[in-house]
Amino acid sequence: MIVSMVVAIGPKREIGYNNKLLWHLPEDLKNFKKITTGKAILMGRKTFESIGKPLPNRKNIVLTRDESYAVEGVTVIHDPMMAFDVALEYDDSDESELMVIGGEEIFKIYLPYTQKIYLSEVDYTGPADTYFPELDGEWKEIESKQFEGFRYKIIERV
Ligand SMILES: NC(=O)c1ccc[n+]([C@@H]2O[C@H](COP(=O)([O-])OP(=O)(O)OC[C@H]3O[C@@H](n4cnc5c(N)ncnc54)[C@H](OP(=O)(O)O)[C@@H]3O)[C@@H](O)[C@H]2O)c1
Repeated sequence: MIVSMVVAIGPKREIGYNNKLLWHLPEDLKNFKKITTGKAILMGRKTFESIGKPLPNRKNIVLTRDESYAVEGVTVIHDPMMAFDVALEYDDSDESELMVIGGEEIFKIYLPYTQKIYLSEVDYTGPADTYFPELDGEWKEIESKQFEGFRYKIIERV
């Protein structure tokens, strides 16, 4: 199993404001669906509540410290390391990929374990209160494509 991230960032690494995304990019959302369908997706409790419901055809894993948190269709975890066990239990094939989908707190925790990032770089100017962490170590770009309003890249840890 590998650990990957899917994230859309602004020019200052902005990812959110008031627990919402900063932009509406249907092409990016379509891409997000394609990349994550059939996989385990992992998110923080705030991002989950921002989305509002479990995303279909994916194993939804939500990290929270709230021991009483329970939502139908969601696997709730309290220890960040449990995500690896849950994702492996869901898919132990060679293609198994845990998709970390945010937000800021969650990206920070899992960056050291991440080998691959599906990165959308969005043209954005405006307010933000959450950010994607600076990358650690060395990364190489393996794919890059320009869309209206954003550039989509895949980068891998060297
Ligand atoms: N642009 C993008 O690609 C993208 C993607 C995802 C999200 N976002 C944006 O990011 C923002 C949310 O990010 P955020 O950093 O505020 O929140 P978050 O990372 O989604 O969730 C934070 C929550 O995760 C739980 N948590 C964090 N560390 C934990 C630990 N060690 N153990 C157990 N639980 C832990 C806590 O939940 P409890 O408080 O319940 O304990 C914490 O409040 C929103 O604006 C969202 O729209 C953007």
